[in-house]
Amino acid sequence: MKRTATCGELNARDDGREVILNGWVHRNRDHGGVTFINLRDRYGITQVVFDDTCPAELKERAASLKMEYCVAVKGKVNKRPDSMINKDMATGEIEILATELEILTTCETLPFMIDGDSEANETLRLKYRYLDLRREKMQKHIALRHKVSHAVREHFESLDFYDIETPTLIKSTPEGARDFLVPARMQPGKFFALPQSPQLYKQILMVSGFDKYYQIAHCYRDEDLRGDRQFEFTQVDFEMSFVSKDDVFEVVEAQMAHIFKKTMNVDLPIPFPRLTYHEAMDSYGSDKPDLRIDMKFHDFSSLVPKAEFGVFKSILAEGGTIKAMVVPGAAPNYSRKKVSELEETAKTYGAKGLAWMKVTADGLDGGIAKFFNPIADEVKELLGAKADDLILFGAGDWQTACTSLGAVRARLAKDLDLVKWDDFRFAWVIDFPLFEWNEDEKKWDPAHHMFSMPQDEFKATMEEKPGDVIGDLYDLVVNGYELASGSVRIHDPEIQKRVFNVVGFPEEEAEERFGFLLESFRYGAPPHAGLAYGLDRLVMLMCGEESLKEVIAFPRMSTGTNPLDESPALVDEEQLDELKIKLIPVEDE
Ligand code: AMO
Ligand code: AMP
Repeated sequence: MKRTATCGELNARDDGREVILNGWVHRNRDHGGVTFINLRDRYGITQVVFDDTCPAELKERAASLKMEYCVAVKGKVNKRPDSMINKDMATGEIEILATELEILTTCETLPFMIDGDSEANETLRLKYRYLDLRREKMQKHIALRHKVSHAVREHFESLDFYDIETPTLIKSTPEGARDFLVPARMQPGKFFALPQSPQLYKQILMVSGFDKYYQIAHCYRDEDLRGDRQFEFTQVDFEMSFVSKDDVFEVVEAQMAHIFKKTMNVDLPIPFPRLTYHEAMDSYGSDKPDLRIDMKFHDFSSLVPKAEFGVFKSILAEGGTIKAMVVPGAAPNYSRKKVSELEETAKTYGAKGLAWMKVTADGLDGGIAKFFNPIADEVKELLGAKADDLILFGAGDWQTACTSLGAVRARLAKDLDLVKWDDFRFAWVIDFPLFEWNEDEKKWDPAHHMFSMPQDEFKATMEEKPGDVIGDLYDLVVNGYELASGSVRIHDPEIQKRVFNVVGFPEEEAEERFGFLLESFRYGAPPHAGLAYGLDRLVMLMCGEESLKEVIAFPRMSTGTNPLDESPALVDEEQLDELKIKLIPVEDE
């Protein structure tokens, strides 16, 4: 019984048609000897009725159906009387009066309900992922993901980009995470790495003259997993020659607008606002600020000398920063105890405390108010604060003051329910420092990767003041997440060498690890720039989810295990012998 219609397409216009549907028993009910089945497939749900007109044998088989049996049903489309129309169902105008039923396969007792909002625990969901994926929510997410990748391809195609695959058994790429290694059987002792991104290869493609490249690329990084990080993930990766960062931005902005319009019918305002890294940190305490939250930091240092609060005075004397943030109307709801919870958040970001005060009708109250009450009017004016506002301070070195208050800002957005998931606020964060200081190893590290261009004015003094060098680096952020990173690349072997020097990457090692890229640059490398965004992260945000697991068909637990296939797993002795690998026994911890 091959299907002639799907479970999502029939309506009153099909009244009287004879159809065959294939699908799963979503629900079954028995009403005084009449069996109702909700039959489900990818396209929807259709009600099937086995009533008194059915032969006894057919009725019996219908009554034996259990949830998630896979069946084929033949019957006649019957327009329901007006009073019986189910407006909540796309096919609610009709039902199928069954004349035949074939049970294609039966189904064991389900480990959790397919039909229902309550979520089973994660291990169970991932072990039985095929069942979990049958749930309406997951079907919608996977469908959206498909539509998004289609829109991506459509857009690149319209701009004449080439889709070019790059190898996934490679020499390690320096993106900063740990590589996954694959032993090379034919050259015992040698290993391939799985790519952390197609970075080196896309740059080589520019040297080859493919001046607009893209790839929806699978990437692998052995790093600790969390909500927005998986071992395996997908990047929308692209690179262009003879362009500036503005050209890259234009492609991404148009692409995001196309994706949102096409898949969600949302009009994204473009171009996206741009913030420098310094502005983002200074005003929001994050290099991926959530711009849905209005609260912006104020510099409070001008008022510190006018009051007698020693803590702030000494922080300023040591060259530190005092930032103030106004939380509108929050004073009545923030007891001392609740503020101390916020203080815990600040402390996890290195702050020594979280100074605070409340604005009242006639002054300031609580926390450090007594020090500032004599200049209450000036405080209110500087911060634009009104009665019932709560004022919170970040104090310390610039980085700590900003990031700790930034973390409090993000937490308040959750606690006070200040943001809507479907308000997508994109922004570019530009002008990142090219190098960051690695305190553990006492050396400079590349802030992004080693192939990003220092901005012209810093080229001469790169070695003297690495910390001051601003690179042509950019991130695309949305709602507090980093969605994409990219840069204008170095195409001049001399500058590349100097960057390696600053980050203490010996020339021989550079030559050994990616000499092939450096060599290609000696053969007429074009100036080029590019970017990659996380497809999983984008779809996760579009679905209003906080975990990539909700938008990846077969994801991993945070332990790195996939309960479905139970990987990673032991392998046979022979496989190891063939690879000339000997295992060192590990003591159970
Ligand atoms: P970057 O390392 O910043 O840049 O990665 C780009 C984007 O990929 C996504 N992403 C991840 N998503 C899920 N799980 C992970 N473990 C994970 N790691 C990264 C993020 C991130 O913004 N080659 C450069 C890009 C370039 O310069 O063109 C790169 O890979 O959304
Ligand atoms: P104290 O004078 O130590 O009682 O501190 C008064 C307020 O200032 C408290 O809310 C502290 O959390 C805050 N505070 C104290 N020291 C610091 C600091 N170094 N940085 C930021 N806030 C601080």
